[in-house]
Amino acid sequence: PVLVVDFGAQYAQLIARRVREASVYSEIVPSTVSADEVLARRPAAIILSGGPSSVYADGAPPVDPALLAAGVPVFGICYGFQAMAQALGGRVDRTGRREYGSTRLTVTEPGSPLLQDLPGELDVWMSHGDAVARAPEGFTVTARTPDTPIAAFEDVDRRLAGVQYHPEVVHSTGGQRVLERFLHDVAGIPPAWTPGRILDEQVRLVRERIGDERVICGLSGGVDSAVAAALVQRAVGDQLTCVFVDHGLLREGEREQVEQDFVAATGVRLVTVDARERFLSALAGVTDPETKRKIIGREFIRVFEQAAAEVSAAARTDSPDGAGVRFLVQGTLYPDVVESGGGTGTATIKSHHNVGGLPEDLTFELVEPLRTLFKDEVRLLGAELGLPAAIIRRHPFPGPGLGIRIIGEVTADRLATLRAADLVVRQEMTAAGVDDQVWQCPVVLLADVRSVGVQGDGRSYGHPVVLRPVTSEDAMTADWSRLPYDLLARISNRITGEVPEINRVVLDITSKPPGTIEWE
Ligand code: XMP
Repeated sequence: PVLVVDFGAQYAQLIARRVREASVYSEIVPSTVSADEVLARRPAAIILSGGPSSVYADGAPPVDPALLAAGVPVFGICYGFQAMAQALGGRVDRTGRREYGSTRLTVTEPGSPLLQDLPGELDVWMSHGDAVARAPEGFTVTARTPDTPIAAFEDVDRRLAGVQYHPEVVHSTGGQRVLERFLHDVAGIPPAWTPGRILDEQVRLVRERIGDERVICGLSGGVDSAVAAALVQRAVGDQLTCVFVDHGLLREGEREQVEQDFVAATGVRLVTVDARERFLSALAGVTDPETKRKIIGREFIRVFEQAAAEVSAAARTDSPDGAGVRFLVQGTLYPDVVESGGGTGTATIKSHHNVGGLPEDLTFELVEPLRTLFKDEVRLLGAELGLPAAIIRRHPFPGPGLGIRIIGEVTADRLATLRAADLVVRQEMTAAGVDDQVWQCPVVLLADVRSVGVQGDGRSYGHPVVLRPVTSEDAMTADWSRLPYDLLARISNRITGEVPEINRVVLDITSKPPGTIEWE
């Protein structure tokens, strides 16, 4: 793999993703891992990420010169660039100035292997205080900015290079090109990490792991569980049973999408549990958001466990050796693994409690075929597996579903109202071609609020719905989407015309933070 050494900036994941987008497999390692351990993993190249504001800061993690002397190609970014300079005998100065945001970069060595086919001047994204004042011996300085005379350098013979700016962010023109030139040309790594290969490899691993045992998978209607299930189905066929819990908090058409489209595309054996009544009665009279979440989470686990026990019992009667279900498939993705510290030793613990998840004391052994993958790759894999576009491109949807998008008590009537409004929003967004610009667009029913309006020939006293379209890279932060006014107008006209209970449509223009994406 290409190893991205994480110096604690939020950019390491983004760098790892960009490397994968260059069709090269990458993983993240914390900077506390020793040079020996890093090299023992036989990296094809190493990328040193951005990190603390200063190499002089207390506890600033150094780069072990051994890492740079092993003959492995190394690319330093921002802090990684400075730490590399320092480790190789260059000089880093505290300038007392901060260069932050978009800056004009001038390429001073147009023949540089890294920068050669870029324009001579380009806008790049900077965020640093210190600066490299003298490049280490053997290095050629290849670019500067008005404030930073040494903004990029390279030592082609030793295959070491770095840039002061952040090529991994979209605001840096040609950033991806620079990473690709480093990976493909300087480090000589072929762009071989393709969806077809990922699929073959994961199918093989799953087959090895599961052997001829039975396996079960919970489907939520979302991309991750669908792709994980389809992949396991490809690997072990009917040894897999999928369980889909209809908790009644789904959107219009989602149950059919799983029961018909997904099954048709994969041939998966599916058990649907209709638990709509059970969830509705458990939620009766409840308005507090956290209580709702707890109830939905608790009921979900009970229903799933019961279904799993039944599938297991059936497997026991079926199979010659009386074995039940041994494995459970989960659609865990690489960002969850990194964030929960799994496998990489990073300390951050994911704080977002995943309602709709399963308890940790399940008696199954976990199979997580997407554990090394980013979301974009999961979508590519879904396409490779022939899943319907509607599933692959589905926006994130919370486990507790519409239950946390009705502000107030959840009832069957209110669910029907919200479902109708939500359907209009999704139809119009798709028709306008904006699905790919929007991370997700919750539609929220303010069920305890009423306002006066005129609808048809008389006074109305109905409820508002809130549109919450957001853009985001990872749901940790978000901005509200600037959807076209004519699209918003169409949505508003249709909802107030087609859903009698709703007489007002409002737009949420709060970023996250301070707002969260969901309202509850
Ligand atoms: P917030 O509202 O915290 O949401 O900004 C961030 C992202 O997480 C989704 N979300 C959930 N997903 N179970 C999930 O699987 C949950 O309980 C849950 N709550 C929020 C939300 O839709 C957004 O994408």
